[in-house]
Amino acid sequence: MDELEETVVTPWEVRGRINYEKLIEEFGTQPFTNDLKQRLEKNIKQPLHPMIRRGIVFSHRDFDWLLDHIEKGGDFALYTGRGPSGNTHIGHLVPWQFTKWLQDTFDVELYFQLTDDEKFLIDREKSYEETTQYAYQNALDILAVGFNPEKTKFIIDSEAGPKFRRLATEISRRITFSTAKAIFGFTESTNIGLIFHPAMQAAPCFYPSVLHGRKIPVLIPAGIDQDPYWRATRDIAEKMGYYKPVALHSEFIPGLEEGGKMSASKPDTTVFTTDSAKSVVKKVKRAFTGGRATIEEQKRLGGEPEKCNVFAWYRTSFEDDDEALKKRWDDCKSGALMCGPCKQELADRVVVFLEVHQQKAEDAKDVLESCVIRI
Ligand code: TYM
Repeated sequence: MDELEETVVTPWEVRGRINYEKLIEEFGTQPFTNDLKQRLEKNIKQPLHPMIRRGIVFSHRDFDWLLDHIEKGGDFALYTGRGPSGNTHIGHLVPWQFTKWLQDTFDVELYFQLTDDEKFLIDREKSYEETTQYAYQNALDILAVGFNPEKTKFIIDSEAGPKFRRLATEISRRITFSTAKAIFGFTESTNIGLIFHPAMQAAPCFYPSVLHGRKIPVLIPAGIDQDPYWRATRDIAEKMGYYKPVALHSEFIPGLEEGGKMSASKPDTTVFTTDSAKSVVKKVKRAFTGGRATIEEQKRLGGEPEKCNVFAWYRTSFEDDDEALKKRWDDCKSGALMCGPCKQELADRVVVFLEVHQQKAEDAKDVLESCVIRI
């Protein structure tokens, strides 16, 4: 079977052409409807984030319940995370930029988990020191997104404190191997560390309640690949006296090759936050687009932005203005815009973005330690 034909979406692997409507069905989540967008808009003072307006946040679990809770004056905490297996890429920033908007909009705490243990357990080539080092390095990228350092708490798994570990153990007693196997596909040859990991990734869902000594729901903005963890956690939450975690699922930004999501395992078609300007330009110029075989054909038939990864990058991360995005789409369709200049403009925007991002990551060194929680 062609690699693009088979679609796989798990916490450890995402590949193929992704049909998001089908994923909603398969994962048993709810679509993020226009009604929900309007309800959210009524509860906030600023315009909706482009990822909401454009449907990039496409699915949820119980977000309507969270809005009820907020309307009744209830508070909540945010929770998201990163498996520090290497450098951060532009795809990781997608859910984080949206999470920052949620933090600013609702002025709430964010618990950010860095699963250096998980990455050590998965990848036999990596030492524990290496994944912990990446956790610290990735945390700078995360802070560079602009989170409020006073309200942002990093949980680095290998350094998590006794309350956190105790909570993970309490959770693990509630999840049988048979459930974990059914949800995560563990086999006889899976190492037992990984089998425990769902309890580690579930723990931040209840940690704000433990720390504050009262029930606080968490909202998890993340790619839908992480949803199996929330399914497992939701099954046990109420039995343990906590709220079920609420989830918002965002689409994946593709790499610069055809199909699939941007992934560190394909470095030539992925832009890392550490890339130099020269390397960005080289990568973007080779991108898979919705362009035709010849310029003459493209002028005559127009391009196919619906297939184009360059357009996907504008839509997800590099064009906030809805009208300018629509114009780009129309000009491509009509044959007025060619791929060369469209790629060049994207490369320029990515380069400027990274320059600013890299400086912010450098500046974040001063606050990082104050954000790490080891309770
Ligand atoms: P990780 O490091 O694989 O991914 C971190 C976050 O980035 C999202 N993501 C993407 N989003 C858009 N486009 C892409 N190309 C792309 N690639 C990755 C992921 O969906 C995720 O939201 N086990 C987790 C770490 C973790 C976590 C969490 C993640 C612990 N607790 C809570 C989310 C929420 C992991 O390895 O993520």
